[in-house]
Amino acid sequence: MCGIIGFTGTLDATNVLTKGLSQLEYRGYDSAGIAFFENESIRTIKTTGKVQCLKEKVEAANVTGATCGIGHTRWATHGGVSDINSHPHTFGNVTLIHNGIIENYKELQEELALQGKTPVSQTDTEIAAMVIDDCFTGDPIEAIKKADARLEGQYGFCVMFKGHPGKIFCIRNGSPLVATHAEAGSVIASDMVALLDYSKDYFVLPEHVIATLTKDEITLVDLEGNSVEPEMLHVDWDVDAAMKGGYEYFMLKEIHDQPDALMNTIRPRVKNGLPTFEADNVPDEVFTHCNRILITACGTAMHAGLVGKNLIERLAKVPVTVDVASEFRYNEPIMDENTLLITISQSGETADTLAAIRLAKEHGAKTLSIVNVKGSTIARESDYVLYTHAGPEIAVASTKAYTVQLSVFYLIAARFAFVTNKLNEEETKTFIANLENAIESLNEILEKEMDFDEVSASLDNATSLFYIGRGLDECLSREGSLKLKEISYIHSEAYAAGELKHGTISLITDDVPVIALATQHNVYSKMISNIREVKARGAKVILITNGEDESIDESICSFQVSIPKVDDMFAPFGTAVIVQYLAYFCAVRRGLNVDQPRNLAKSVTVE
Ligand code: F6R
Repeated sequence: MCGIIGFTGTLDATNVLTKGLSQLEYRGYDSAGIAFFENESIRTIKTTGKVQCLKEKVEAANVTGATCGIGHTRWATHGGVSDINSHPHTFGNVTLIHNGIIENYKELQEELALQGKTPVSQTDTEIAAMVIDDCFTGDPIEAIKKADARLEGQYGFCVMFKGHPGKIFCIRNGSPLVATHAEAGSVIASDMVALLDYSKDYFVLPEHVIATLTKDEITLVDLEGNSVEPEMLHVDWDVDAAMKGGYEYFMLKEIHDQPDALMNTIRPRVKNGLPTFEADNVPDEVFTHCNRILITACGTAMHAGLVGKNLIERLAKVPVTVDVASEFRYNEPIMDENTLLITISQSGETADTLAAIRLAKEHGAKTLSIVNVKGSTIARESDYVLYTHAGPEIAVASTKAYTVQLSVFYLIAARFAFVTNKLNEEETKTFIANLENAIESLNEILEKEMDFDEVSASLDNATSLFYIGRGLDECLSREGSLKLKEISYIHSEAYAAGELKHGTISLITDDVPVIALATQHNVYSKMISNIREVKARGAKVILITNGEDESIDESICSFQVSIPKVDDMFAPFGTAVIVQYLAYFCAVRRGLNVDQPRNLAKSVTVE
């Protein structure tokens, strides 16, 4: 959600902070602010709007000689979008930034009111600043320890105390914080992306451990005062991976990253043509001892799970259910020691997905997660992790993270079927070869990029549309529809093609286009009948096929777009790229900010 950065060292802190906030802006972008030591006192500059607005304010402020400070980009939860609600917040001796939600802020506010203390903003964060100040009698670490016992909810804090120049104190519960000490000084952030300029070695701040950052070192102590050694991690992403690389938008770059990201995810897991998770320390018993799989995740990641269900049930013949993580734990899922819960998350921090893992563990189920960010909370709390190697995904709309998640499901389904003798060696090798071919064929789609602009132009006046499909195409319809809503703000609904006539077809008129996914040959003729049904009611149809169907004419669709012909089971990769392009061009053509759609944040760390 919010983006956090803290820096103390030898560089100009205002530059480090504003640069870091630009890199973190995808996490939240309704307001931004920094606070820094200017000599002995703390000065704050904050504003609503983008980080660019903050940069302009900082430049006009003529700051010199600041080498220690904290910065924040906000995605509002408590209190509207206003300068006063932006972070950093100061109360008494304390200035802080916060990522998360303080759940008991109302009770705390009432307690503090008894002492005549009132906040100036409507935020839960200012209450946290007031609590820490209330606990402060001169020792910052003691104050944070005492406040930690009073605060409930999720938080990642970076705190500066009056009288302690050059130092930043940090603690977290739930919300992510990663840190590094490098030549330039000490840096802490909500996301590894903001550390890449300084180091590729970093650590995740353990929960309820207090970090003290100075220009020379980072020290960690737990709540009992014992010193804690950080567990260092290394990331192989480079700074370029987190830049636009000449593309107009991160989303476009990330669409293009897909063939490499997919190969990076698959290749280390294929030996002699067979899938293996040996290097991931995922033993085959995870599959052989499991009689039921539950998959849960949010948004796009959940859509990857829908494809996963289809593949695992088809290949490994084990029942799979898929649920959105925000509903999962409230649906009282049936789990025992023979259940495998598979969670999927790009960020590895999604609160609802994490809660599902914790619940599964209480029931004795095994947990396997598919995660992009190394060392993230979901990765650390799962019994087994299969990392995807998409590199940093900066655009809010997920593209490459989705297709690499799909690829891991292909590997899981194949390994599962192989070790349970549902597929023999030759069949498994053919499956993996088909997977690699499907990925290679994506380059042909990327080369035809501008064709998708032309197709999208036909949606210029659309305000509402339907995505329809059957089988795997129904799963991809959901992803195409979400992508379109998310960045182009066109209302869209994904529907099982055969289900339309049971009510929803009443919404089809000549103003409501239909994007029909028809890549699956076993249901192709049925899809064509469904398309005729919507066509007969005036819909303009965009048809996506697996290889070109020359028999298709204007009586069926206005546009036929085809993916290079692949075995049906592998069509989701090509289809995914096409629906991503359609959403992308619709948004660009409407002049929208593709990478930072309104109201959204990249990483959803609150429930
Ligand atoms: C949509 C999108 C979201 C995320 C969802 C889960 O384009 O990106 O729907 O997929 O918020 O996030 P992660 O994968 O980080 O758990």
